[in-house]
Amino acid sequence: METNSRRQFITTGLGTAALWALGATQALAWTKPTVPQVLGPYHRKGAPWKTRLVEAGEPGQALQIRGRVLDTNGKPLKGAVVDVWQADDHGHYDNDDDNHPPDPDHFHLRGQMRTDANGNYAFDSILPGLYEMSPGVMRPRHIHYIVSCPGFVPVTTQLYFEGDPWIAQDPFARPSLVIKLQKAGAGLAGVFDIVLAKPAN
Ligand SMILES: [Fe+2]
Repeated sequence: METNSRRQFITTGLGTAALWALGATQALAWTKPTVPQVLGPYHRKGAPWKTRLVEAGEPGQALQIRGRVLDTNGKPLKGAVVDVWQADDHGHYDNDDDNHPPDPDHFHLRGQMRTDANGNYAFDSILPGLYEMSPGVMRPRHIHYIVSCPGFVPVTTQLYFEGDPWIAQDPFARPSLVIKLQKAGAGLAGVFDIVLAKPAN
C-alpha cells in the first residue's frame, strides 16, 4: 500500500472492508492529484470555448472524451476550466510550422470548456496522430490538458491511450494517465477524470 493510501485509511477511520464496500478502487484513486506533465511547446492561450474540437471533414478516427474534475476527496468541482489541445491525424499541431503560423483567431483541435454542477466535462475530437520526438522515436498518441479551478492547484497534464505501443519507451507517459478506449458508434470513447489538490497552505 502506498503512503498516501495508508494515511487516507487512518484519517478516515475506515477499515479495508468498509472502503471496499464504498468502492475502494475509485475512492483510493481520488486521493492523489492527477500527475503533472510537461506543457510542451504547442499550447496556445485563449482557445475558444467549445466542446467540438473537430472541423468539417476532419480526417481521423472519431473520439469522444468525457470525465469529471474532482478534489482529493472525490467531490466534483463545478466550474473548473478544462483547456485541451492535440495533434491532428497526421501528428501536426496547428502551430508546429514556423513557416506557416496559424491565423491568430483560428484554433484547430483546441478548446476550453467548463465543468457542470457535477464536475463533468466532455468533448468530441479525433484520435491524435503520432509525431516524432527524436529520429525514429514517436511520442505516443496524447491529448494535452491544463485544468484549473479557483481554490485549487492547476494541473498541466497529458492523456494517453491503452495499447499504444509507444507508451513503453516514452519518457513522459505514466500509467495513471492511460485510459482504455471503447467503441462508440463509428468512433471511440473514453473517460478521463482529473483530481486537483488544494494549495499546501
Ligand atoms: Fe504533444
